[in-house]
Amino acid sequence: MKQEKAIVIEHDNFQGEYRVLRLSAPIVGPLVKPGQFLHLEIPRLNERVLRRPFSIYQADAAGVAVLYKAVGRGTEAMRHLAVGDEVDIIGPLGNGYPEAAEGKLPVLVAGGYGNAALYLKAKELNTKGVAFFGGRSEIDILCIKEFEELGWDVRPTTDDCSIGTQGLVTAAFDPWMAEQDVANLELFVCGPNPMLKAMGDRAIEHGFTAWLSLDKNMACGVGACLTCVIKRKTEDGWEWARCCKDGPIFESREILWDE
Ligand SMILES: Cc1cc2nc3c(=O)[nH]c(=O)nc-3n(C[C@H](O)[C@H](O)[C@H](O)COP(=O)(O)OP(=O)(O)OC[C@H]3O[C@@H](n4cnc5c(N)ncnc54)[C@H](O)[C@@H]3O)c2cc1C
Ligand code: FES
Repeated sequence: MKQEKAIVIEHDNFQGEYRVLRLSAPIVGPLVKPGQFLHLEIPRLNERVLRRPFSIYQADAAGVAVLYKAVGRGTEAMRHLAVGDEVDIIGPLGNGYPEAAEGKLPVLVAGGYGNAALYLKAKELNTKGVAFFGGRSEIDILCIKEFEELGWDVRPTTDDCSIGTQGLVTAAFDPWMAEQDVANLELFVCGPNPMLKAMGDRAIEHGFTAWLSLDKNMACGVGACLTCVIKRKTEDGWEWARCCKDGPIFESREILWDE
């Protein structure tokens, strides 16, 4: 983990409501593992506010990029960043996705910014399997072309049936899963919590591995404040685990979901 004054080198509309923010960050960029995130201090807010976490979409020796959508005060202020502006970042943070298991078929499941969070993993994996991406409409599903260019078999689902199967990701995943040797599957999942829980439940019921990237509000981002805790199962009960430091990626069997 490093702190760096990064410089904005690109800030444009990407797709739908999402924008791409590309930063020159030669200290943080080379350290990034797939599934990790940045804690970003947003300049030009009127008062001092907390940093905001963003998954790392792309990274190389020169820097990093994130895809983000404005949902509140911080991300709205982020929209005003201009090329040449300085942005203080801490990263890379979090555990990242583990190495893929030998001989398993990798499956990606994502929605919203989860597609961006899985891109580096999709690139790194030697075997390109199937990617189930969900969204309200075609415009909401990020990076379909980018994943297809990497060699992934992308199966979109949309609420309005503008592309792919109508419904949630499970509408495409379940019939596909029914025809697979499920013990051979390894899932990498990032998206809204109901999607994570749905995939985690299937992993436990059918006996495959699912790595879930949890989305919890974060304050410090480095394990000190306990804002982001979840209950992690232990042999004799459960313990608190910090999403920012022990996660954000947990295997489905580790998580004790709040009812
Ligand atoms: C590990 C991690 C990675 C993330 N990666 C990305 C990313 O790549 N791209 C991206 O667009 N966003 C990402 N987010 C979400 C992003 O951090 C929030 O959208 C941002 O913090 C909101 O800040 P704000 O000041 O604009 O909104 P606030 O004013 O803080 O909140 C506005 C609204 O957004 C909701 N909100 C705030 N934080 C979250 C959250 N974490 N998840 C869902 N709803 C939230 C609030 O409940 C509220 O309704 C990530 C979050 C985490 C924890
Ligand atoms: S955000 Fe502070 S411990 Fe995770």
